[in-house]
Amino acid sequence: MSGNQESTRLAAQRLAADPRIAQAKALLTQAVRDHQLGLDQVRPPRPELVAGYAEKVAKFEGLRGGTLYFPYLSAGFGNGPYVELADGSVKLDMITGIGVHGMGHSNPDLVDVGIDAVLCDTVMQGNLQQNEPSVEMTELLVKLATETGSDLQHCVLTTSGAMANENALKIAFQKNSPAHRVFAFENCFCGRSIALSNMTDRPNYRVGLPVTTTVDYLPFYDHRDPAGSLQRTMAILEKQVARYPNQHAILWMELIAGEGGYYAGSREFFQTLARRARELKIAVVCDEVQTFSRTNRPYAFQYFELDSLVDIVTIGKITQVCATLFTSNYKPKPGLVSQTFTGNSASILAGLKIVRSLIEGGHFTQDAHSSKTMRLHDLFVGGIKAIEAKYPGSLQGPYGLGGMVGFTPFDGSAAVAKELTMKLYEAGLMGFIAGDAPSRVRFLMPLLVTEPRHITEACRLLEQVVAGMVAARQG
Ligand SMILES: Cc1ncc(COP(=O)(O)O)c(C=O)c1O
Repeated sequence: MSGNQESTRLAAQRLAADPRIAQAKALLTQAVRDHQLGLDQVRPPRPELVAGYAEKVAKFEGLRGGTLYFPYLSAGFGNGPYVELADGSVKLDMITGIGVHGMGHSNPDLVDVGIDAVLCDTVMQGNLQQNEPSVEMTELLVKLATETGSDLQHCVLTTSGAMANENALKIAFQKNSPAHRVFAFENCFCGRSIALSNMTDRPNYRVGLPVTTTVDYLPFYDHRDPAGSLQRTMAILEKQVARYPNQHAILWMELIAGEGGYYAGSREFFQTLARRARELKIAVVCDEVQTFSRTNRPYAFQYFELDSLVDIVTIGKITQVCATLFTSNYKPKPGLVSQTFTGNSASILAGLKIVRSLIEGGHFTQDAHSSKTMRLHDLFVGGIKAIEAKYPGSLQGPYGLGGMVGFTPFDGSAAVAKELTMKLYEAGLMGFIAGDAPSRVRFLMPLLVTEPRHITEACRLLEQVVAGMVAARQG
């Protein structure tokens, strides 16, 4: 490069191209790879670390003012779906922080972009402090959202799923003011802010909170009675619209119920509801904080062919940085949406890497059967069904959709779902509960690093625990 060219480059570009950075990255990623060797199977805790670990967990619980679901403290290192805990145990992580760690643990590619993030001028990005990766992430999310016909031309980044949903609520309410009622599905989970706790259909999640949002619940799709369930839901919608004319601002939909228990709806169900909402000038909002990238399309609204019907979509979890996308029709007035932090530099760069890897890795395809995500689903569900065949009544479907795998264990009681989840944890497999009456068990595998052998191992551990529970119930 000539001296002239060199002087026209920005200092940031010269830093990024400095061979010392490439060398440091190569050294660091190689160190990670070297120390990952051997971290490829589950292991029990080391006896000498058990007492100190338990003390740390208890101290943490005391400081937090509440117990942890699992006594989980990561050592801060792992290998793909395997994670090393601070007690020396190694777990096979098939829940990934509830769908966050799509590239698993200590992924060298994320170490690489993490170094770029460390070299960014600021730790955080936000209202007055955006770097180019924020533009790239926004552009990528809009490009994916519009590629099959939606009009979601705009996107604002934010720090959590709850904040993405809050922004969605504000945008929809402002546009449709003075309408203020929300249609949401029974059994929905929307997030933990006060407004979202009002909408979430779990009474104990809003105990003692003031009512800020008026919600009319609609029954979710019932896979056992598709036509009847659509009819019932539409009848309730019409009844509420007649009861409160022009008061509904939002139809809030999670297309595969996540916390609700891994139930998928159907195209016809969602399309019929959304079409009617559009006629009534009610904003069609899809909460994709959990469903983004879990089918063979980037967004679940694309899987259910709602492209021409969605007004606002939110995403989070696997994208590391969260976002609210909206159509031009729903552009907020100045002053409504802004934040000191939209994300930290590492999460924005990691999110970009993850979404690009999903695209390049064959997860998003036109034909569902050729998607890597859908093939992983089939393998996992095949393993679960084989256990159910061996121990009838132990693990019942429906088994979720795509990268969201779930089942109802035994009698579907909350106690049994918790017992199974805890026993899996002790055996080295991390899943989690979902839903209520029945309570279910679910997995959100790290889509970018899960290989068939990991699913085989997960199913082996699951079978071992189920066999033990069956034997205990018989004896
Ligand atoms: C569908 C859905 N919406 C919103 C949220 C809230 O996201 P966060 O916990 O990042 O605030 C979640 C989290 O589980 C979710 O599953």
